[in-house]
Amino acid sequence: METRVSELDPLEDNRALYREAAEVLAGGGLVAIPTETVYGLGGDAFNAEAVAQIFAVKERPSFDPLICHLSGANQLRDIAVVPAELQGLVDRLAEEFWPGPLTMVLPKAPCVPDIVTSGLPTVACRVTAHEAMRGVARALGHPIAAPSANRFGHISPTCAGAVLKELGGRIPLLLDGGACSEGLESTIVQPLTDEKGRPAVRVLRDGPVTREKLRRICRILKPERRSEGDARPTAPGQLTSHYAPGKPLVLHDPKTPFEPREGVSYGLISYQGDSLLAAQEGWAEVMPLSPGSGRLAEAAVRLFAVMRAMDENPAVQVIVAETLPETGLGVAMMDRLRRAAAEKA
Ligand code: TXA
Ligand code: MG
Repeated sequence: METRVSELDPLEDNRALYREAAEVLAGGGLVAIPTETVYGLGGDAFNAEAVAQIFAVKERPSFDPLICHLSGANQLRDIAVVPAELQGLVDRLAEEFWPGPLTMVLPKAPCVPDIVTSGLPTVACRVTAHEAMRGVARALGHPIAAPSANRFGHISPTCAGAVLKELGGRIPLLLDGGACSEGLESTIVQPLTDEKGRPAVRVLRDGPVTREKLRRICRILKPERRSEGDARPTAPGQLTSHYAPGKPLVLHDPKTPFEPREGVSYGLISYQGDSLLAAQEGWAEVMPLSPGSGRLAEAAVRLFAVMRAMDENPAVQVIVAETLPETGLGVAMMDRLRRAAAEKA
């Protein structure tokens, strides 16, 4: 199959392209569509066969449920049944963060096929800030089920070229919207009531909507307890090894020297590029995430692209990544780096 690439024009009305993409989806086909976080591999969420195709094309295990992308918050009632005691909180979160990089896990409506949610009673709902995904969902008239447009366990694609490397030849159409403005997958929360019956959220995946921002709206419940080294997902799909380059990746404190193994060539992913570690001799390549300035938002946008570039550099055998400050966006980035560093099962 040849993958057609349609370029979106940021200064023009792209509705004709959205309609074209919606036609492919309505026919049961799949389309890669940009969001502000990463590119998604979209299928009609109400078409179980199309959704089965998503799993096949991604080589994704069926126990890992998908996110449904809505054209707007008003489509939420089509797929979720919000309990009365959580309605106020859901409305506030939607008002504050939608459209944007927040996904809410809510009790699902019966019309959502079980394959979308991997049989769970809940569905993950998101209204992205990217006009393309919303526009295609509007043209289709259904939500779009879309995981990140990479093969399972690989690094999420943050530009059209990365999607082509992952899925080229496997899907009929890719909407090219350029580079993603956030670069890290959405924050996933589950609205719940705490032990006193007060509305709160549990964070299932850290992302661009930081805990600091969430705390302005509500309490954050502690994660469900699980024992050390337990690789089972708390939410299905939150696997320990994920977002992984093909090469081994190790984390290292930028303030301490690194002891290389003889005969191995290392590439360094450095936060600002000016650390003690970066100054050390012998790196095959050093790539800074936020050169000089050390801005977490800039580092987040570049993280996956830099991981990919290191993976593709033939001079690098092992990737070393500096640990990052774990505040704000640093929490989500360290989560991705730890998963990239985890042993593959
Ligand atoms: O930014 C994003 O969220 C991107 C763009 C494309 O929207 N999507 C994305 O999808 O990252 P994916 O499939 O790579 O990750 C979705 C995560 C999975 O780890 C899955 O386990 C979790 O969402 N998830 C989906 N439905 C869930 C549910 N009902 N309960 C708990 N977790 C759920
Ligand atoms: Mg993914």
